[in-house]
Amino acid sequence: VLIGPGLLKQSPELFEKHQVGERLFLISNPLVSRLFTDDLARDLSRNGFNVVSLQFPDGEKFKNLQTVENIYTDLIDQGADRSITLVAVGGGVTGDVVGFVASTFLRGVRYIQIPTTLLSQVDSSVGGKTGVNHQEGKNLIGAFYQPYLVCADTETLLTLPQREFQSGAYEVLKYGLIGDLEFFNLIASSMKDIQNRTQTVLTDVVRRCCEVKVAIVSSDETEKGLRRILNFGHTFGHALEAVTQFKLLTHGEAIGYGMLAATHLSISKGYLDASSGQRIIDCVRSIGSLPSLESVLIEDILQAMKRDKKRAEDQNVFVLLRSIGNPIISTNIQRKNLIEAWERAKESAQIEVAD
Ligand code: NAD
Ligand code: GLY
Repeated sequence: VLIGPGLLKQSPELFEKHQVGERLFLISNPLVSRLFTDDLARDLSRNGFNVVSLQFPDGEKFKNLQTVENIYTDLIDQGADRSITLVAVGGGVTGDVVGFVASTFLRGVRYIQIPTTLLSQVDSSVGGKTGVNHQEGKNLIGAFYQPYLVCADTETLLTLPQREFQSGAYEVLKYGLIGDLEFFNLIASSMKDIQNRTQTVLTDVVRRCCEVKVAIVSSDETEKGLRRILNFGHTFGHALEAVTQFKLLTHGEAIGYGMLAATHLSISKGYLDASSGQRIIDCVRSIGSLPSLESVLIEDILQAMKRDKKRAEDQNVFVLLRSIGNPIISTNIQRKNLIEAWERAKESAQIEVAD
């Protein structure tokens, strides 16, 4: 996993050094192509690589089997064989789709991740979860399939819309909370520099997030145990995405709310002390404002949780905190605790705006 500013421009040398193969299929969407992929294709071609660029439309709604099928067809039309390397350039949608194509095309070909959103640099490009949505649910079809190389150029984040950047920042905070107190302290104290996209700070923060993720995935690639802690904030978060029809919240915002709820649950279960809880709430709030969810009913959230694919033995799995950096898996949570945690999370999310 390579991380730093300006890596895209160095791709020809880096690809040569890491022996990624000569025949490359760059896959992205039209927006990301205009920003980065067209230039990348030109640089690679000039340096002797055989490059074909493919695109699929932008958006989560295109993360499906039809897109996968279209990419297979393009690859077959181009005479692709097992020596090819797929290169995913874009956010988590592109990375997940391309990774899944790579895991299945000709029973598996090499792929590279070039993540260009903060969320994809700290989370989706690393760890080998690939897949697409089914009309019955998100990420229901997929495979664990590791990328050959991840190349995260932090300068690509300079063009990211504020809301997308903020979404990634919630995932960054997640790593501090499940990773270690020192990293949390660094995130909390550097939030302004992170938000300003200061390259030295971003490089350090993305690297540390990836280190936390790599350590977890290396010991539990297929999520039998430890990897579940990466789902901190996700039990509420996924339910919130579902009850708002994946329209009102970005994934990161849903996790922002989910981390608030998990923090309140951790306090009410007696695991986490109130002052650590307040530090976490302050840090979530320092990332920015979250969309109002006043109209969302707790009964709908609880129903959505019952459809969570990570539910086991009729129980939802919650990642809670004993302290910052010290997560614990908990399944035995009562309904009244969930209702109370949600009320508190909504209160905590409200930021007073001074006149
Ligand atoms: P995304 O891929 O939809 O990208 C968000 C938007 O930003 C898109 O419109 C994209 O075109 C645009 N964009 C990308 N890079 C840009 C740049 N540098 N400048 C300007 N615009 C840019 O969303 P995302 O948040 O990156 O990823 C979300 C997806 O990731 C979801 O499908 C989620 O399920 C998946 N995910 C996967 C994992 C995993 O482990 N595989 C983990 C977390 C999330
Ligand atoms: N994004 C959670 C995981 O990779 O396990």
